[in-house]
Amino acid sequence: MHPAEPQITDPRLKRIFYAMPFTGKSYDLIAKERRAIKKALQRLGLELSEQFLGVEDKEKFEAHAYGPLHIAKKDHDLMKQSGVIIADYSGDSIGRDCEIVIAKEVLDRRVIAIVPDKHMQNHPWIRLYSDYIVGTQAEAFKLAQKLSGLSLSAEVSKLSRAQKDKLDEQLAEMLKRSDPVQVSSSLFPTELQRRWKALFGAEYQNVIRTSYKPLPTILRRNPLKLSHQGLMEIARKYSWKLTRLQFSDKAYRLELPLGEAITLWKLPEYLEGKFYVQQLASQLPAVVLDPKAGDRVLDIAAAPGSKTTQMAELMEDKGEVLANDNSSERLEVLKAVVNRQGLTNVNVHLGDGATLGDQYTEQFDKVMVDAPCSSEGILRYKAHKFLEWYLLGIYRETEMQRRLLESGYKALKPGGTLVYSTCTYGPEENEAIVDWLLKQHPDARIEPVALKGVKTHPGLTEWEHTNFDQSLRKARRLLPTENNSTGFYLAKLTKQAR
Ligand SMILES: C[S@@+](CC[C@H](N)C(=O)[O-])C[C@H]1O[C@@H](n2cnc3c(N)ncnc32)[C@H](O)[C@@H]1O
Repeated sequence: MHPAEPQITDPRLKRIFYAMPFTGKSYDLIAKERRAIKKALQRLGLELSEQFLGVEDKEKFEAHAYGPLHIAKKDHDLMKQSGVIIADYSGDSIGRDCEIVIAKEVLDRRVIAIVPDKHMQNHPWIRLYSDYIVGTQAEAFKLAQKLSGLSLSAEVSKLSRAQKDKLDEQLAEMLKRSDPVQVSSSLFPTELQRRWKALFGAEYQNVIRTSYKPLPTILRRNPLKLSHQGLMEIARKYSWKLTRLQFSDKAYRLELPLGEAITLWKLPEYLEGKFYVQQLASQLPAVVLDPKAGDRVLDIAAAPGSKTTQMAELMEDKGEVLANDNSSERLEVLKAVVNRQGLTNVNVHLGDGATLGDQYTEQFDKVMVDAPCSSEGILRYKAHKFLEWYLLGIYRETEMQRRLLESGYKALKPGGTLVYSTCTYGPEENEAIVDWLLKQHPDARIEPVALKGVKTHPGLTEWEHTNFDQSLRKARRLLPTENNSTGFYLAKLTKQAR
């Protein structure tokens, strides 16, 4: 390794905190189990966090002489220094439940649960507070070893850009060597596998396989700078094969020998903003929203600006797109794209989109709510996303999604149109959010969506004992197995004119 290269495999991942049930066990038995665990981990190049409090002092242990606060403090410090927590739920024990909740909720660690009993594996508590549920200690150790070898951060949400890129490379390597279904069955969070099986049924394995296929390159022609004929000339110049797509007269599939796509970013025509590279699913929300020249449009979560610039181009650079995002870093990218595409009708705003409804009540003809989400649908270009996924994280996303949709709806004029979209499959982030809006606002309607040449599926009307409004069928779901694209969800809503 070059000395200047950042170290991106977190050394804490080699340290394992083993939350072991003590209840009902003798001192000697615990001490023996501890030695065996330590040895087994060492054989795999891992290290045991020495949290077996009391084991070093038989008398104190048997007299329960350690206060709970002292235990908690010691355990939390040890968990902070460890990357993976193994929670052993075998045997009759009250377990170490508090530590596990803290490991997940506060310290953001990866938790592998050992649950030999198949029925207990379904226990909602275990499903909520574990990333992985396995049946044996040996499986848990193997998985911990695999995780420790990846470019992960001990804190799930603190993956750096370099770690993400490195992880994508590592996963691509792994996928070259083995079947994606195999890779995902060991590394996908257990609950994610369970949910995908419930959502996709017989298509499950197909969805996994296509979730890792490279994406085709789709160009979006900028009509302000380039005609169809002009693009054909560029194609001739570079010997490209371009196929026009049916859903938009500005979208083209470009066939290049694999690996050549990278050079696109360097072409003068790209740098002059004559075309933009944007995968198929991402182009659909703007086509469905259909903004016109002179409209006033709010893009509430706009960066890095794919849909903002697509809409501004559809509007012939007339009217206004208010492009808001709460990330200044990402807005810098958006500004660069807006400039490159030669657009003057985009106003950039940095802030929490959830506040814009109050600030701009009923002022926009069209609103785009392309919400932040758990990103299950985009493994084709961000393979690491499943390693950031965890069940409780979804509920945090839904909070923001509801706030952004509510705010966007408030900013919409009566008679106006709003599109809500995500690049994920979880119905909590899709149907449940739109269903919630329909219940809050009797003047909201969900409208049919027509997309020529794109295979879609109706939105769901039920999921895990929850029923949604029947009109949610009109929303659209996209699978990566069709259209050679990513997974996506979009719903078109209108506010009734008064
Ligand atoms: C799916 S991405 C948007 C992609 C963008 N529409 C495009 O097509 O290029 C979601 C965006 O939401 C932003 N975001 C998250 N929370 C937000 C908030 N409270 N207000 C505004 N933007 C937010 C993120 O920074 C991220 O850029």
